Amino acid sequence: MTLSIRCSAFNLVRFSEKRLKNRTASFIRSIMFNPTLKIIEIAESTQDEARKLALSGSPAGTSIMAVVQTGGRGRGGSKWFSPPGKNLAMSVILRPNVGPREAPILGMLSSIAVADTVDTLCDPHRASVKWPNDVLVQEKKIAGILSEGQISSGRLDFIVLGLGLNLNSFEEDFPSNLTNSLTSCSILTGLTFDIKQVGISLLTRLGELSERLEIEGPGFVPGMWQMRWPHKDHRICREGVEGTAIEIDDDGALLVQSQNGRTIKITSGEVLLRRPCPGITGVN
Ligand code: BTN
Repeated sequence: MTLSIRCSAFNLVRFSEKRLKNRTASFIRSIMFNPTLKIIEIAESTQDEARKLALSGSPAGTSIMAVVQTGGRGRGGSKWFSPPGKNLAMSVILRPNVGPREAPILGMLSSIAVADTVDTLCDPHRASVKWPNDVLVQEKKIAGILSEGQISSGRLDFIVLGLGLNLNSFEEDFPSNLTNSLTSCSILTGLTFDIKQVGISLLTRLGELSERLEIEGPGFVPGMWQMRWPHKDHRICREGVEGTAIEIDDDGALLVQSQNGRTIKITSGEVLLRRPCPGITGVN
């Protein structure tokens, strides 16, 4: 089954492939967010499906959701496991007017959209964020974001944002070694959620934030993200560096003050919040 819908606020109308083909090339290249959600029964990874659509010229806002994902990918080459039919697995195409250096800002923008959506679904719980763009509730991960892009002539041609949000899964659905570090909207509320409706709400919020990005530029994102960031001034470690998280800079990098007072800029990878830092022998 393949279902395609255009999302205009919360109204759904059938989407015609012919209408898309008839659009002018300039419209298709537009950076404007044009929310369209395609739902497929099964995919290895929605990232690959969305990338194909991006390469064939689909506009920003084109999104693809899979009921079952057989080879979901996480950040840093990890696997993303999601029990069939229970959680949101969706990839969204963005064509932002920003350079590759600013690409991390887009992951942050989408974690804000996911956190806002989680707040609405899981009220009164409040979502927080963990650098670079995990979404947590009660310090447990509820959503992860993978951003994969293509650069040509020094510009970001497109970016595919992969959003994995734990909706209707319970502890028994998680890998046993992760039970204590994951949560879901059902665990938090006892409710069952309509995955398609959540996808549409999330896309709508992402559209609002993308429009703001196009109008104002990326400057507002780090400040907005940090309002949900509880780890400022916390001890963190990453690949042999231990220090204090100070702030997020304009490019979305994490600034860490090491024990000798040097400021280190971390632009990618995972950071650990637990102590002691594994593998740390001296002062950095
Ligand atoms: C992370 O490691 O935290 C990022 C996880 C991203 C998972 C989503 S699910 C939809 C999309 N398709 C994938 O294969 N991965 C992303």
